[in-house]
Amino acid sequence: MWCLRPWVSTVIRILTVLLIGYIAWGTVHSPEALWAPGHLSRHHADLKKCDLCHEAFKGATNDKCLACHSAKVFQTRSDVATSQFHQKVIDDQQSCLACHTEHRGVLANITRGTMHNPHGEFIFRATGASSCSDCHTMKAGKNKTQQGLLQNAMVRHLIEEGEGAHQLGKFATCLKCHVGGQLDVEEEDD
Ligand code: HEC
Ligand code: HEC
Ligand code: HEC
Ligand code: HEC
Ligand code: HEC
Repeated sequence: MWCLRPWVSTVIRILTVLLIGYIAWGTVHSPEALWAPGHLSRHHADLKKCDLCHEAFKGATNDKCLACHSAKVFQTRSDVATSQFHQKVIDDQQSCLACHTEHRGVLANITRGTMHNPHGEFIFRATGASSCSDCHTMKAGKNKTQQGLLQNAMVRHLIEEGEGAHQLGKFATCLKCHVGGQLDVEEEDD
């Protein structure tokens, strides 16, 4: 066993007290600067308390997110597709963190693989579909949603209605032909 000289251990004690004081002070006054890995996005920047999203020893949890983003809030605030999609996520108890992130800076997009809708609202008006998953399997991929097309009556019906114009690989962007959201399509002579 070796012993520290008394003055050395005194200095260590003082430094320890100062360090704990600094951490306590920082935790109270500026927890994000001290503990968080980066700034919150603009969507959540005004959430001052970390425990609105974080649970002790668990990190950010679904329960916390759902306190603000409940199925009911999705129903009233989001479009039909997004709402139904999240209803399924909630029912299946999928982790929100599989697709959402935080602390990447004020301007960061906190949704991975944001659903890209090439059809516009037109798809719902024209077909009576109420969600993307009426025609697609909506697995959020790394980059964009994998647009796996279902083989069901709705998709078959849609393909038939185009009088030949609706062939797979050709009609993803409805508004290219249905200009201005019109169902009638002017025949082009070419
Ligand atoms: C709007 C919700 C939200 C708030 C508020 C929030 N965080 Fe987070 N935090 C997250 C999410 C989501 C992740 C996971 C990010 C990922 O894995 O991409 C995370 C990750 C972290 C991590 C990385 C370790 C881990 O648990 O994954 C730390 C550390 C952290 N947050 C600290 C803080 C601190 C400190 C505050 C308060 C200043 C805070 N967070 C406020 C949502 C939040
Ligand atoms: C204290 C309430 C609160 C909590 C907790 C919370 N959020 Fe939010 N969230 C908001 C508000 C407010 C907005 C901004 C709404 C708006 O822009 O209309 C928002 C916006 C979002 C958005 C939309 C971003 C966009 O691109 O438009 C996503 C995604 C999101 N939150 C995910 C999460 C996740 C995941 C968690 C849990 C880690 C979480 N939120 C926790 C209040 C909260
Ligand atoms: C499988 C991927 C995935 C999971 C899991 C997921 N989300 Fe999302 N979330 C998305 C996508 C993609 C969007 C963007 C939809 C769009 O812009 O059309 C989104 C959008 C949102 C929005 C913005 C809603 C709006 O009207 O713009 C909120 C809030 C949100 N998610 C919260 C959550 C919460 C809370 C959870 C966990 C219960 C969760 N998400 C789980 C993929 C996911
Ligand atoms: C009524 C059926 C139907 C609905 C509802 C529908 N789609 Fe589609 N979607 C299609 C068809 C048909 C195609 C064309 C596939 C092809 O051309 O091979 C397509 C193609 C796509 C593509 C591929 C586009 C490209 O650039 O190649 C994406 C992405 C997509 N849809 C996303 C969505 C999203 C997001 C929603 C919900 C907002 C949605 N779809 C709703 C029928 C539908
Ligand atoms: C290449 C051009 C083209 C594209 C792209 C296209 N359509 Fe069509 N669509 C047509 C033509 C041509 C017709 C049949 C002629 C008509 O009814 O005027 C038609 C007919 C329809 C009809 C039946 C209209 C009626 O009066 O009964 C619907 C519904 C429809 N399209 C929906 C869609 C949707 C949804 C998309 C995108 C997924 C789409 N179309 C993309 C050319 C197109």
